[in-house]
Amino acid sequence: MIRVLSVVSEMFPVVKTGGLGDVAGALPAALAAAGAETTTMLPGYPAVIAALTDATAAHEFADLFGGPATVLRGSAAGLDVLVVDAPHLYARAGNPYLGADGREWADNGLRFAGLGAAGAAMAAGVAPGHDFDIVHAHDWQAAMAIVYLNFHPGERPGTVLTVHNLAFQGLYPAALFPRLGLPESAFSLNGLEYHGKVNFLKGGLSYADRITTVSPTYAQEIMGVENGMGLDGILRHRADVLSGIMNGIDDTIWNPATDPLIPGRFGRGKMARRALNKAALQQRMGLDQNPDALLIGLVTRMTTQKGLDMLVDLLDDLAADGIQLALLGAGDPDLEHAFVAAAEWNLGSVGCVIGYDETLAHLIEAGSDAFLAPSRFEPCGLTQLYALRYGAVPVVSRVGGLADSVIDANQAALAAGVATGIQFWPATPEALQSALHRLMALWRDKQAWERMQRNGMAADVSWRGPASRYVALYKSLLAERG
Ligand code: ADP
Ligand code: GLC
Repeated sequence: MIRVLSVVSEMFPVVKTGGLGDVAGALPAALAAAGAETTTMLPGYPAVIAALTDATAAHEFADLFGGPATVLRGSAAGLDVLVVDAPHLYARAGNPYLGADGREWADNGLRFAGLGAAGAAMAAGVAPGHDFDIVHAHDWQAAMAIVYLNFHPGERPGTVLTVHNLAFQGLYPAALFPRLGLPESAFSLNGLEYHGKVNFLKGGLSYADRITTVSPTYAQEIMGVENGMGLDGILRHRADVLSGIMNGIDDTIWNPATDPLIPGRFGRGKMARRALNKAALQQRMGLDQNPDALLIGLVTRMTTQKGLDMLVDLLDDLAADGIQLALLGAGDPDLEHAFVAAAEWNLGSVGCVIGYDETLAHLIEAGSDAFLAPSRFEPCGLTQLYALRYGAVPVVSRVGGLADSVIDANQAALAAGVATGIQFWPATPEALQSALHRLMALWRDKQAWERMQRNGMAADVSWRGPASRYVALYKSLLAERG
């Protein structure tokens, strides 16, 4: 068994703000089946400390960026974890990254340098009995583990950095650098330095033995200026170690046949029961109780990335066409207001819940006829994978993991009977509108529609394939390091 230390800033069901949490929560079981055992290192937020059982102290830091810290070994939600219990960094209520005012915690640089330093120390063997072959760091919040390990004088495990979203980089003033305890050479063009600032993600990208991102198309996209978010140069420079491994989904949690969060459990052989979910969703969202109306669902962070602004201006037209829309999301206040206003204006046709609601997220996947993800960029996207599994036909922009997971219902795919949804491009309101017209035409052709639903539900979106790809990557890295 390969021993992996996964360093990550969230993990479902203990703490989750998006898909990163889903991935961190589900990948360990899939890796175990494929030949790698995972210990997950998490910051000791209150929710993590509360979920921790069988804890023992593995290591003490007299000072971890401003206070004492203990690395606790235990389990949480059935997974092996190492928790960085550092109250001065993590013991605060609310979102892991943002204060109550919606802005980043002012000391996020130190908070996530702390996570990285603790991860690197454990991986370098500071605590006897904790041995790892691979450190797998996720996103900028964990990238510093790779930077610290790079400058560790002795033996170290192999390092893998997975980029879940290049839009978040951990960018701080140069004044942070002297506090990080790294040699001067780390603040260079080939290291953490980025236009005179400290960039955690760039540090990880510079020093990781392998870089992955969460879909093959996104791996290509980010090497270009348009989608490289200012890091395309370093990504091109490291192209030989960069690859894309598509995410999977936890099909024990996202399984329509057993899902405890939906009223009508269903499967490919029992599709009629799906109507129960549609009726429940219409009721929950204040939509007209009409089984024949085409109901489109969305579950999303409301940010520029997700392209919701393109949809706002189309809502009145959609309602006039008899289409229903059910949106669950939170984020940008202007977008939130626009959707709430559209729902009031189009009573019975547009339903909108602002907030975070795991149960409603499941009901939307299970009760919508179609599922919309009009992202401007999308490293992978999990909600369209859930939609495939739940028989909601995905309508997606042709970017990143959306492009890789949906087979567009063009003439050839329809004729071959392999379509699973609709793709559109470019990400503009006009292209979105014509995609929705195509959707309506398909909705009227019940045979074609049911074929798409069944194809989607039969698609393998599990973690089995992706987990075996990660294990192959770990093995090739270990072989190379000898
Ligand atoms: P991202 O990580 O960019 O937000 P993903 O599609 O990878 O996008 O993952 C989003 C995850 O967060 C999914 O599990 C989705 O169901 C969930 N999610 C997003 N917004 C909400 C919300 N408002 N309420 C409940 N779940 C949400
Ligand atoms: C990020 C991306 C999303 C991806 C998720 C999990 O949040 O925005 O596309 O699915 O990470 O990898």
